[in-house]
Amino acid sequence: MPTASTDLRLSRRAVCAGLAALPALRPALAATPPPLLTAREARVQLAPPAYGATPVWSYDGTLPGPMLRARQGSRLERRLVNDLPVPTSVHWHGIRIDNAMDGVAGLTQDPVAPGGQFDYAFDLPDAGTYWYHAHTNSMEQVARGLAGALIVDEPTPPDVDADHMLLLDDWLLNPDNGHFVDGFDHPMTRSHAGRMGNLMGVNGRHDFALQARQNDRLRLRLINGANARIFVLTLEGLTGWRVALDGMPLETPEMVDGQLILAPAQRIDLIVDVTAEAGTTAGLLSGTEADGWRLLAEVAVTGRAARTPREAPVPLPPNPRMVVPGAADAPLLEMPLQGGAMRGMTSGRYQGQEMGFRALMQRGQYWALAGQVGLGPEPFARLSRGETARIAMTNDTIFPHAMHLHGMHFRQTGPDGRHGPLRDTALLMPDDRVEIAFVADNPGKWLLHCHMLGHAASGMTHWIEVA
Ligand code: C2O
Ligand code: CU
Repeated sequence: MPTASTDLRLSRRAVCAGLAALPALRPALAATPPPLLTAREARVQLAPPAYGATPVWSYDGTLPGPMLRARQGSRLERRLVNDLPVPTSVHWHGIRIDNAMDGVAGLTQDPVAPGGQFDYAFDLPDAGTYWYHAHTNSMEQVARGLAGALIVDEPTPPDVDADHMLLLDDWLLNPDNGHFVDGFDHPMTRSHAGRMGNLMGVNGRHDFALQARQNDRLRLRLINGANARIFVLTLEGLTGWRVALDGMPLETPEMVDGQLILAPAQRIDLIVDVTAEAGTTAGLLSGTEADGWRLLAEVAVTGRAARTPREAPVPLPPNPRMVVPGAADAPLLEMPLQGGAMRGMTSGRYQGQEMGFRALMQRGQYWALAGQVGLGPEPFARLSRGETARIAMTNDTIFPHAMHLHGMHFRQTGPDGRHGPLRDTALLMPDDRVEIAFVADNPGKWLLHCHMLGHAASGMTHWIEVA
């Protein structure tokens, strides 16, 4: 009985507190809820129809998810509703965002349980091409389809005839039924190059095509949404310029001459003129010199625009805060990339404990960043707000890695000591040493991890703290 009366008292107090809070709550209840973004199961025809539809995990029933688009300087709000059978969260890749909105389960928020919801609301300080994707067990969730584009428009967009978003991906499908091949966490892919698909596509289609006229000027926003594939691309019947990388405008547009390399999570904005004749096919080819090239995105040239080819495009307007001052004097923090098949490390720190490679392998861990295996209690670095930081990453493995910093863009330092363009994801080929510099101007806990998502889940995830 004492228990019951205590309960009664508690509940009565709760009721009173509830009543007291009611007037304050009323305006909030009356406000319109943010638009929904629903994570749910769906079926999508990824492979040719003979193979059947693929059961996917989607945002709003489509793969990729809906293209979110807003003006620079505006605020984006979405209520994530989780109708999946697993917990999830959304990361807004490349946005200089409030830490609490970064979507990293286990670091910036709790995962959203099945049936639960979470309100994301944040400012969009930079124009450009960004994307959003699951950041809870992303190795599996992104491979199953939880990704979409986030486009932030310049106040005055460049003068083009059309603006197209192309989210490049690959899917590992079972040829018997078109379903995803299971084993998203297969040890072989985690310890090697990652999960590679057997079907490549754009915007959820293996036969993606768009139409344009000869002489049209197009803006193409390329996003690599694949788990592990590095896309090597060439242009056919299109001539043009790179105008932005990872969302951030280049100070001078660069003529595309040869291959475009797009590591997982990276973006390239192109402005291209259609030079192919009317009635022919132009487009984006994917492949290598050794394996040959195949059409990844077709541009069907349906006619001829009256306009003759124009001058080189003017640079996109710069986003705020573009410089990294005083980098030469900032201490250089060393981050070796270690492990993986054929170069297994001998030991690493896992969950606060030093462990041998065999013990790590048994826990599905194969990689380390500066000796740290996976997200640990201690950050790689504690930086004071506004401080310029330098990190030298050295790839001591035999696999490429795409290292992504959350919350802030960095500049890669060239061999001559000069700073390259702003990026949020850097590709490191084996034996590469890449030095990045950035201003730690965004307070919070920020991941620095490999965007080969099987690697990230198998040790290549670390974090920095800005306070
Ligand atoms: Cu695009 Cu930590 O992710
Ligand atoms: Cu990696």
